[in-house]
Amino acid sequence: MELHIKGGKRLKGQIKLSAAKNSVLPILAACIMTQHTVVLKNCVPLLDVLSMIELLKSLGASILFIDNDIVVNCERVQPLAADAGLTKTIRSSIFILGPLLSRFKEAKVSAPGGCAIGSRPIDLHLKGLEDLGAKISVTDENTLRFDAKEMKGGNVNLAFPSVGATANLMMAAVLSEGSTLINGAAKEPEIEDLANFINCLGGKVFGAGTESVLIEGVRNLDGGEYTPIPDRIAAGTYLCAAVCAGGRVKIDGINAAHIYSLVEILSKTGASFSFKAGKDYLSNSVEMVSRGMTRGVGDVITQPYPGFPTDMQPQLAAALCGGLGQSVVIEKLFENRFGYIEELKKMGANAVCIGDSAVVCGAGRLNGARVAAEDLRGGAALVVAALGANGVSIVEGAGHIDRGYYKIENDLGGLGADIIRRK
Ligand code: UD1
Repeated sequence: MELHIKGGKRLKGQIKLSAAKNSVLPILAACIMTQHTVVLKNCVPLLDVLSMIELLKSLGASILFIDNDIVVNCERVQPLAADAGLTKTIRSSIFILGPLLSRFKEAKVSAPGGCAIGSRPIDLHLKGLEDLGAKISVTDENTLRFDAKEMKGGNVNLAFPSVGATANLMMAAVLSEGSTLINGAAKEPEIEDLANFINCLGGKVFGAGTESVLIEGVRNLDGGEYTPIPDRIAAGTYLCAAVCAGGRVKIDGINAAHIYSLVEILSKTGASFSFKAGKDYLSNSVEMVSRGMTRGVGDVITQPYPGFPTDMQPQLAAALCGGLGQSVVIEKLFENRFGYIEELKKMGANAVCIGDSAVVCGAGRLNGARVAAEDLRGGAALVVAALGANGVSIVEGAGHIDRGYYKIENDLGGLGADIIRRK
């Protein structure tokens, strides 16, 4: 599948955000911990979300997507039934581990493989679970078997604030006996959202969003209805697109605090922002005006939240490539996240990768070209670049983009972009 984009048109209009992919994935997995029905609101059928639904169904869950609601019932889930092929290929399949151990005290998963942006080990997940008393054995090639009959609350110190490990350990502790303290936890908004979801079902998680999370074990969880936080990375992608192409874009249903680090950097490009607070974040909005032709922004370093997110690194670098001035983008989270730069060069980008850094020398508008997406955010970066470029670009591999953006051509088309999808 390809996206055909005729660039150079200013973007104008407003976008309403859907639930964040990186919240919905762990929250779906967390549903394993309750035998009651859960309804997740404001969701869209992103490919990654559909993959997670497939995985949960392979465990025995019944799940329906009705309009923008996902209705989940995990009463009949079997802890050892996960489809090995699915767990191997779906990166976020690792999120089922904590909930399965919490509820059933046993689990079997194939270690998820690496992906286009790096090797992505799970050592921190495993060490944390062992610290809580889980026993891990390897049954055959890459299949891990967990016995958590003796797992109970305890202290876990994370050597790095891994988002996935924090989520998994938090979930493992929810139905375990006693209290668990996770030190060095990830502070991402999606972690806080997962805790709010668990608490909405009757769990007891305190301090999520800070580096110390305390979980008091409860016997069981109820059902309930929950609206995950809006997608800060989708919001950021559309803001980068409007910086690259120039324009005036309003994003509704955003929690402005979640995009603070991006706003700081985009302001340096010359973009201006105005924020409106509503009665809750779903009625908050941010409006950005950019004349395009960015200025250089100096050094940008990806860091765990509240630092600049690695998931915005490619889209920002793409916008900077089509502007003016020099910037250095330094990637500290993943070892292999500059693959898209070679594609941007086909559009005339002046950028060089040296180790963990990409030096971008903006030389004005890029030119349309045929380019290929190789991963989700790298693919989004190519779309951003194409929107600001002169002439037509064709972005191949749109399936990668569909993992995290639902019909991106509709959102961008609504902002006036000239973009269509072709099979
Ligand atoms: C999550 C996000 C992903 C985002 C990333 C960092 C989801 C579904 N995905 O991924 O979009 O880019 O956070 O913000 O929420 N690491 C280890 N050992 C481990 C775990 C992680 O060495 O056991 C390393 C990873 O290789 C990586 C870094 O820690 O270099 C960050 O990983 P982590 O925070 O765990 O990211 P994910 O949860 O995989």
